[in-house]
Amino acid sequence: MNDKGYPTLETAEKIWREGFDYRCATTEFKVRDEYVFHTTGVAETAQKIAAHTPDMNPEKAYILGLLHDYGKKYDERASGRFHARAGFEELNAMGYPAAAKICLTHSFPSRDFCDEDYASYPADWLEWAHRELAKVTYDDYDRLIQLCDMFFEGMQMVDFETRFSGIVRRYNLKLEDVENLRKNAERNLAYFEAKIGVGIYQLLNIKTL
Ligand SMILES: [Fe+2]
Repeated sequence: MNDKGYPTLETAEKIWREGFDYRCATTEFKVRDEYVFHTTGVAETAQKIAAHTPDMNPEKAYILGLLHDYGKKYDERASGRFHARAGFEELNAMGYPAAAKICLTHSFPSRDFCDEDYASYPADWLEWAHRELAKVTYDDYDRLIQLCDMFFEGMQMVDFETRFSGIVRRYNLKLEDVENLRKNAERNLAYFEAKIGVGIYQLLNIKTL
């Protein structure tokens, strides 16, 4: 525990490893390579953008990015445990409320989200999220991890178009079903681009279609 609300880099890496090992030991973790690529990739891109953004701490951004999917130590389908909630509760119990908050907020780019945008989620997950989100204020770290979460699809760093096509395909949706998600992602992109004065795709070297 420390007074910053998030672990040191060394402890964060241990916590990340413990979550990964737990998932591998308890389930057939089919997307383990994607999980490693995604969580370390979100951490690295968050660190990079934070390094260019006034008043942000790149190491904090890295740590929060690394742990944002900690709740995936449980298989959501098999366990019925919402990964945002599992991560939130366990990191809070460890004494890291700032890292716990990211586990919650990264899944909800809009605090007052519409349940219809999360149609595949059980009602009690959404009720829990509405209740907890009512208590938080989003800051630049919440916005940053939400943004970085959008740049990864499978084993690739991608632009929004590719990311949203992937989501639509995976969940058998239509493009209009992810319209709010897209609007929030574009809002976060514009927010950081205005702060740093550089195109984010250019900064991250992501090719657009
Ligand atoms: Fe997640």
